[in-house]
Amino acid sequence: MNSYARKSLRRTLLASLALMILIGCSSKSDNGAMKGDNGGDGTSKPIIGFVQTGSEGDWRKAHTESVREAAEEAGFELRFADGQAKQENQIKALSSFVAQGVDGIILAPLVETGWDNVLEKAKKRNIPVLILDRQVEVKDDSLYVTYIGADTYNEGRLAAEWLIEKTGGKAKVVELQGTPGASPTINRYNGFRDVIADHSGIEIIASQSGDFRRSKGKEVMEAFLKKHGDDIEVVYAHNDDMAIGAIQAIEDAGKKPGDDIILVSIDGVRAAFEAMVEGKLNCTVECNPLQGPMAFDAMKKILAGDIGDMPKKQMIKDRVYDRDSAKEVIDSRKY
Ligand code: AHR
Repeated sequence: MNSYARKSLRRTLLASLALMILIGCSSKSDNGAMKGDNGGDGTSKPIIGFVQTGSEGDWRKAHTESVREAAEEAGFELRFADGQAKQENQIKALSSFVAQGVDGIILAPLVETGWDNVLEKAKKRNIPVLILDRQVEVKDDSLYVTYIGADTYNEGRLAAEWLIEKTGGKAKVVELQGTPGASPTINRYNGFRDVIADHSGIEIIASQSGDFRRSKGKEVMEAFLKKHGDDIEVVYAHNDDMAIGAIQAIEDAGKKPGDDIILVSIDGVRAAFEAMVEGKLNCTVECNPLQGPMAFDAMKKILAGDIGDMPKKQMIKDRVYDRDSAKEVIDSRKY
């Protein structure tokens, strides 16, 4: 029996004892739950602390919603902490969830590194941590149980492969990177470059962070247009929100996005499908934010101690959409 299962059993015993005392005293508490008996007595729900990165765009909204809905569906109580795009806020929230003695923690880490100490605290208290959406780089990978999210390195590769096919392997590209230090930024940067390495005709002439935000994407694209003007043939944006910001900048500069400048991005949010149908965005590589159900299926198993065959990485499969396929599927999109 692993430590999480032991914790669960201890809780059940404690809860039974608490119940006997309650019956014996013929009195009721507010919610029947004492700290530490979350979910053990069949009346209170297991408590999960969810530490989100922030609310930088449409993808993130869909992600938060998916986690909230899945928690409710699975019968968990969700305590939500918004990191507001600061790692220090996320670390504080994690420490606070540990101090509260929640049953489990789901962390969507803003950046990849700097988590060892706080994850140590959770481990010491036997609180399992599931890493969602973005990855962490830690010295000891027993500090978390599993990672669930997209293969963001492959997304970068898929974007590059689509571009090579579209341009015949010849284009001048500007790149809008995501948040510095975030795993999708690192992976989408590397995946793209690893593919174009064999195609010397694809040249990245400028690359800068737009922080995964629409407004920042627009701002950086305006600067790119000022500096590189007509040289720019392609925008590779690490997410759709920045691509949509770039579309606005291109239009403001009197050019036709999708025709004068090709745009390829990542995520597959509704606004990107609309832009593709309008002809302003050429391609998006899907990164599915509806990760809540997978996270709570895994969390149920973790709390039951059933993690024997649970993989360390559980990757969600992504698809590539272009202007033609967008028209066919736009009505069935869920986010
Ligand atoms: O971590 C996933 C990325 O974060 C999404 O591509 C992006 O839109 C979000 O900000």
